[in-house]
Amino acid sequence: SMNLEQDLPLKGKKALVSAGPTYEAIDPVRFIGNHSSGKMGYAIAGQLAKLGAEITLVSGPTALTTPKGVRKIDVKSAQQMLDACAEHFPAADITVMSAAVADYTPTEVADQKIKKKAEDFSIALQKTKDILATLGAQKRPDQVLVGFALETNNELENAKDKLKRKNLDFIVLNSMQDKGAGFAHDTNKVTVIQKDGQVMAFDLKSKEEVAIDICHLILQQLS
Ligand code: CTP
Ligand code: CA
Repeated sequence: SMNLEQDLPLKGKKALVSAGPTYEAIDPVRFIGNHSSGKMGYAIAGQLAKLGAEITLVSGPTALTTPKGVRKIDVKSAQQMLDACAEHFPAADITVMSAAVADYTPTEVADQKIKKKAEDFSIALQKTKDILATLGAQKRPDQVLVGFALETNNELENAKDKLKRKNLDFIVLNSMQDKGAGFAHDTNKVTVIQKDGQVMAFDLKSKEEVAIDICHLILQQLS
């Protein structure tokens, strides 16, 4: 017979996962976005659901199918993603922020399509609010908070700084230096840094397998 306790170790737990890019409107037909596919976040949401957790997936625009058993909230902008995450964070036992949130957004959105005129053109941008840091500042001791970091240089140092600054339990560092890893790939090579400073380098593997590794670390963190 099945031991449901063992099969569903996250039964009764709520998880909040963010995934995908954000789109920051410039005018009614244009936006600033990025190449995030959302695959890593969707894989984590699907894996947490398989372990029995109740999932809220806050997703930027992606071409992906919602994993089985996952409730998805669609958002476009960083501000909308912040609002949805802030609403669901207090009830979440586990939060994983894998979205590639825009760091800057147009200061003003034109209400008509911008016409081409001058040879040179620029758009004023302002910083978005850091969602993960906002949640980190509100985090209770019973909550597990996981972030991602994308770095091209001084990777470990930068990731450790984000881990501390955003008050995370661990951070998943994506290296852009590995071929076949990261944006638009089905595989990923990550290094996890725990809040106690422990560094764990994982092999290149499918995003599904990386999601399983991350879920194991979350289970460890909860116990
Ligand atoms: N993040 C967020 N809100 C933002 C920007 C980033 O929640 N406005 C989260 C991402 O989802 C990720 C983590 O912060 O989990 C790190 O994102 P990253 O872009 O690597 O770091 P930044 O803090 O934005 O710094 P920088 O881009 O300058 O390296
Ligand atoms: Ca950023």
